Amino acid sequence: ALLPTLMLALAYMLGSIPTAVLVCHSMGLADPRQQGSGNPGTTNVLRLGNPVAALLTLLGDVAKGVLAIGLATWSGLTAQDTGFCGLAVILGHLYPLFGRMRGGKGVATTFGVLLTLSPALGLIALLTWVLIALLGKTASLASVGTALVTPLATWLLMPAQLGTMILICLLLILRHRDNIRRILDGNERRL
Ligand code: G3P
Repeated sequence: ALLPTLMLALAYMLGSIPTAVLVCHSMGLADPRQQGSGNPGTTNVLRLGNPVAALLTLLGDVAKGVLAIGLATWSGLTAQDTGFCGLAVILGHLYPLFGRMRGGKGVATTFGVLLTLSPALGLIALLTWVLIALLGKTASLASVGTALVTPLATWLLMPAQLGTMILICLLLILRHRDNIRRILDGNERRL
């Protein structure tokens, strides 16, 4: 089981790359961990007022998920181990090796994982996120809503990955607990 172990470690390290922090630093912007929601992610980089930096953050974080699943598939891992590599890249993003294990919320990286596992699943997640974001004008609400819908879509389209996706979505929802509290209190930041 050397190959799966190596690929899991690689996926975790890939996930650990703090895209938002690197993008903001290289563009001379403030550290997203010190501004707005304090989250190093696309939404909070957008709050810094730089859409290009936000787009680069989004692309980088999605790419981490795409690469993790792409490498796992390319190296011939089983479907289950490939799913675990998806979990590992997201764990790396949430609890990175660097930066005192304080990472992001995992939404963009999960999207990259879903899209690469199954483009149909990725598309459903994307449409769900955009629809809720348009209706609710709140990124976190869209993320939590998508995390609730995704296991259902996985069950229909990729039942072999259901267990792993439930775990990933639970992590995502847990990671949004402060956002959920603010949504319920009516003082969550709007898009
Ligand atoms: O994708 C992250 C989003 O769901 C919440 O981000 O910065 O509003 O906590 P933020």
